[in-house]
Amino acid sequence: MIGFAAERFSAGIANLDVPMGIGGSDMYRQQILDHYKNPRNYGEIEDATFTHVGENPMCGDTIEMDVVLDDDEETIEAIAFQGDGCAISQASASMLSKRLEGMTIEELETMDRDDVIDMLGVDISPMRVKCAVLAEKVAQDGAEIYFGEKDLEETTTEDDDPE
Ligand code: FES
Repeated sequence: MIGFAAERFSAGIANLDVPMGIGGSDMYRQQILDHYKNPRNYGEIEDATFTHVGENPMCGDTIEMDVVLDDDEETIEAIAFQGDGCAISQASASMLSKRLEGMTIEELETMDRDDVIDMLGVDISPMRVKCAVLAEKVAQDGAEIYFGEKDLEETTTEDDDPE
């Protein structure tokens, strides 16, 4: 478990562009806070099929993911992550880890930033999009590296166009 660092949380949540008066925004804020404070699937899996790490170089925040595939190597059976970072990056990793359970690799590869933003349920400023998509990029790059489709040491959000 990670400790709840109030300053890191406020650094993340204060920059969420939640339009006041929009139904459901408080619920989604609470959901992000809950996943940040109580991250699901947090930890590591020793005999994972593949492990991959990623970083947002603008801030140094990191995500490491362990993924276990089924015998056919088509479906994600289990996933665990560890990380250090802002509320959005860590909550996004936690929420994504739940969504990836039982998902096929094919489905993972078709995910994009809109899916992540929909999952979070709040409007994200362009700067914060890099926080939101870090975990998704780590999962996708990890799978692509494992299947020999990419050669990469570490994922970064550096080249991720925020627009
Ligand atoms: Fe670093 Fe959000 S501030 S990922």
